[in-house]
Amino acid sequence: MAGNITFTMIKPDAVGAGNVGAITKMIQEAGFTIKAMKLTKMSGERAGQFYAVHKERPFYADLCKYMSSGAIVPMILEKDNAVEDFRKLIGATDPTKAEAGTIRNLFAKSIEANAIHGSDSDENALIEGSFFFSQTEQF
Ligand code: CMP
Repeated sequence: MAGNITFTMIKPDAVGAGNVGAITKMIQEAGFTIKAMKLTKMSGERAGQFYAVHKERPFYADLCKYMSSGAIVPMILEKDNAVEDFRKLIGATDPTKAEAGTIRNLFAKSIEANAIHGSDSDENALIEGSFFFSQTEQF
């Protein structure tokens, strides 16, 4: 059975553009409960650790630089079928391919500065949540 927790992070482009409130409103109106949330910033080294799974990809260095370029808002979210439903809400990684009305369609600037991250599995939601918040298993 699908889990009820996912992890998200509003990225520097969306935080910098003042879209945290609008995005958070969409998340809550879609039925997600925010269980944890903070405004923070990653060093290049921390961004590299978070995205270690992509370290062989050609965009890895730029991605780490970009993700450490400004403030981010990581969150733990709760809803039935959280991972899958949240990925539908945010839309495709490439905003030119994101369905109308999705968060990336509305707010993303490019495939790199794509406004928001969403975990791709229950297992990664726990790993990624624990990267920013302690005692994630209790949420
Ligand atoms: P995210 O869902 O956070 O997971 C990995 C990130 O890498 C992705 O969003 C994009 O920001 C970025 N990414 C994925 N593919 C590309 C690409 N082809 N070029 C640049 N950045 C990418």
